[in-house]
Amino acid sequence: MNIEHNHSLQAFNSFGFTAYAEHFITVSSDEQLLEALATANSEKWPVFLLGGGSNLVLTRPIPGLVIHLTNQETTYQQQSDGTTLVTVAAGKPWHEFVVETLDNDLAGLENLSLIPGNAGAAPVQNIGAYGVELNTRLHSVRAYHRASASWQTMKPSDCAFSYRDSVFKQNPNEFVITHVTFLLSASTPAVLSYAALNQALTANNINTNPENAADNIALAKIISQTVINIRQSKLPDPKIIGNAGSFFKNPVVDAVHAQTLKAAHPNLVAYPQPDGRVKLAAGWLIDTLGFKGYRKGNVGVHTEQALVLVHHGGGTGEELMSVAQEIITKVDANFDVRLEIEPVVV
Ligand code: EPU
Repeated sequence: MNIEHNHSLQAFNSFGFTAYAEHFITVSSDEQLLEALATANSEKWPVFLLGGGSNLVLTRPIPGLVIHLTNQETTYQQQSDGTTLVTVAAGKPWHEFVVETLDNDLAGLENLSLIPGNAGAAPVQNIGAYGVELNTRLHSVRAYHRASASWQTMKPSDCAFSYRDSVFKQNPNEFVITHVTFLLSASTPAVLSYAALNQALTANNINTNPENAADNIALAKIISQTVINIRQSKLPDPKIIGNAGSFFKNPVVDAVHAQTLKAAHPNLVAYPQPDGRVKLAAGWLIDTLGFKGYRKGNVGVHTEQALVLVHHGGGTGEELMSVAQEIITKVDANFDVRLEIEPVVV
């Protein structure tokens, strides 16, 4: 077992902040994972599970043992009804996995193209984009539950999924997700509920009513490319400028509050929810207060999308959190809305 000490995490967080892990290990098998956890137990080290680091703000060194899973295997099990169970190991970069499923003529994950991070972290925040949330495609999660020292195969109903939330997010570092299984097929129907996606396809005269599985897969591949184009037009590439995607969740308010805001701000972007409440576009709230492109030292707000905080280089997680706090305070004062931070803050 190769435990490193005072290991730099700069390459392991998409903000690119300089921070260290007190102890660090990469593991690629169940045996190595159990050995690493046993060592942490005997040394009384806290454990921190690190995926792709694309949803993480590092404000200080991480104490204890940071475990990074690297297994990238995928397996395909065809079912008698024509669907396929696809299992991906936690260390596979999510977008590579999406591309691989489409190359294997399996539709269902195309709207989730180009989301940064590794497959093992995808269920933690129940990744969602362009009308699809991970839980709607998920078959099961295989995880090691540390408190009971047992392996569990968890169905979506065991995972307490909601918008950007899950049992894994609620109980940090309690479950070690090693594999994620999806139920996909050539004829998984396309989801075109997201206006910008639908408009882009219509503008290119794409037939969105496929008549057979082959046409459906062709459409799924076009959707994937269209999502990639939309994301690239508004979201900064973490390889070029440090960021963690959306920094805040889109807040949900009651209908009366939404009506009051709409009366004062006719351009308010608001989406009614099935429970009668209303989800607001946090990006719009922040943008309206003039924060787009805001810069304070080495950190700030992206020029194209106010929901994304960025690190220009040479800054710290603490500086970023001070900008986040400034935004939270101003949004609260102006709209009476409490923004919640989306990434994990250490
Ligand atoms: N808007 C503004 N100004 C801005 C940003 C947005 O006015 O600076 C307005 C837009 O014009 C639009 C609305 O706000 O009317 C919503 O914006 P957008 O379509 O860009 O989506 P979002 O609500 O900002 C969410 C997810 C994204 C996901 C997209 C597409 C959250 C917190 N974010 O963003 O997820 O890709 O929808 O489904 O739910 C992520 O989690 O990292 C992420 C990028």
